[in-house]
Amino acid sequence: QGCNEVRIGVVGLGYVGLVTAAVLADRGHDVVGVDVDGRKVEALKVGRVPIFEPGLDDLLSENEERLHFSTDYSSLRDAELAFVAVSTPTVDGKIKLDYVLSAARSLSTVLGRDAVVAIKSTVVPGTARRVRSVADREVVSNPEFLKEGSAIHDTLRPDRVVIGSFSASAGDLVESLWSFTGAPVLRLTPEEAELVKYASNSFLALKVSFINEIADVCERLPGCDVNRVARAIGLDRRISPHFLNAGLGWGGSCFPKDTRAFLAFAAQLGEEPKTVRAAVEGNEERPRRAVRTLERLAGPLRGRKVCVLGLAFKPNTDDTRESVAMKVVELLLREGARVVAYDPKARIDLSTSSKEECVREAEAVVIATEWDEFRGIEGLLKGKYVLDGRRVLDPALMDPRFFRAVGLGVE
Ligand code: UGA
Repeated sequence: QGCNEVRIGVVGLGYVGLVTAAVLADRGHDVVGVDVDGRKVEALKVGRVPIFEPGLDDLLSENEERLHFSTDYSSLRDAELAFVAVSTPTVDGKIKLDYVLSAARSLSTVLGRDAVVAIKSTVVPGTARRVRSVADREVVSNPEFLKEGSAIHDTLRPDRVVIGSFSASAGDLVESLWSFTGAPVLRLTPEEAELVKYASNSFLALKVSFINEIADVCERLPGCDVNRVARAIGLDRRISPHFLNAGLGWGGSCFPKDTRAFLAFAAQLGEEPKTVRAAVEGNEERPRRAVRTLERLAGPLRGRKVCVLGLAFKPNTDDTRESVAMKVVELLLREGARVVAYDPKARIDLSTSSKEECVREAEAVVIATEWDEFRGIEGLLKGKYVLDGRRVLDPALMDPRFFRAVGLGVE
C-alpha cells in the first residue's frame, strides 16, 4: 500500500487502542500493541478478542501479520509513532492521569529520539504539555470520537480528525496516518484539541438531557409524542435530528466520566459550566423517574416479578459500565421487586437466557436498551404492565391501560 508505512505503537488495548491498532494495521502499517494486562495480551496473541465490537474480530485476524501484542514496552523500541490509549478514569469526580503519565514515562525509556507520542486517551487540557515533559518527546493530541458498537466505521469514516500539536512536523506525521479517511482535518493547539473532546461529549450529553426534558413535558400532554416533536425540532439544520432520542438517559464509559471530569476541571479554573451541570443532574434523575412511572402504572412493586429487557448501556455492545439499565435494576431491587433481566450480550446474576423466559411470569416489563430483537415483541408482552424506556414498541399495538412509554402523553 505505497511507501508511507509507519511503524506504530499502541499503548492500552481497550476499545480505542484495539480499534486504532486494527484499523492502522489494515492500512498497511506495522503495529505493536502493548498492555499491562497479561491476560488480555495472551488472549489477543491467540486471536481471542477481549471485547465485543462488531467487525473487530475479522479486522484483527485479517491483519495478523502486521499486528503484534506484548506486555513489554521494549517491543516499542522501533516505533516511529506511539499512540497512548490507556484509560483515564475519574476518581471522586476528578480525572486520574496516572496511567497516561506512567505510559509516558515508560515510553521515554524505550522510544527513539525522533519518535512522536500521540495521545488518544481522553484527557483534560494541559495533559499533552505534561506528557511532553515526562516523555521528553514531541507530543500530539489526537482525540478519538468513535462510538462503541460502530467503532470501526467511525474510525474509517470520522466526521473530522482533530490534531493538536506543538510542532508542525509531529502534527503532519499524525495527519498523514488519517488522510485515507478523507475527513476534514483541524490543526489546533494541544489544549484546543483536548478541549474539543470534552466540549463534544458534553454537548452530546446535553442534547440528550434536553430532549429528555421535552419528553417529560410530552408525558403530561394528551396524545403528545416526543419522537414526532424531536423530528420536527431536528429538521432545523442548526439543531440536526441526530442524538435526539429520548429515553432513560445516557450512560456508558464516556459521557458520565467525561462530563464529571470536565466539571471538575472547569471548577479548578474558577469556571462553572451550568448547562453541563444541569445535563448531568437531569440525567441522574432518569432511572428513578422510570421506576416511579412503572409504579404509578402497575402499583407497588414489592414482591412482584419485574423483567428488565436490556442491560448494556446501549445496543450492539456488551458494555454495562454506567448503564442506566443497571441502575433501573438496582432501584427495582431496592423497591423489593423480584427482578429478572435479559440482554443479548451482557449478563448479570439475574439474567435469563432469552427474552421469552425473562418475560414469562413477570407482571411488569421495562425495556431499558433498544436492541433490535426487542422490536416487534408487542404480542409477547400481552397482559403485562410495560414501560418502554427506549421507544422500541409501537404504541398503537399496546393496550394503553397497561402501557407507558418515555415521552408519550396519555389521554
Ligand atoms: C460517546 C460519543 O458518542 C463518541 O463520539 C465518543 O468518542 C465516545 O463517547 C467517547 O468519548 O469515547 P459512546 O459512549 O460509545 O460514544 O455511546 P453513544 O452512542 O454516544 O451513547 C451514549 C449514551 O447516550 C448511551 O447510553 C445512549 O443510550 C444515550 N443516547 C444517545 C440517548 O439516550 N439518546 C440519543 O439520542 C443518543
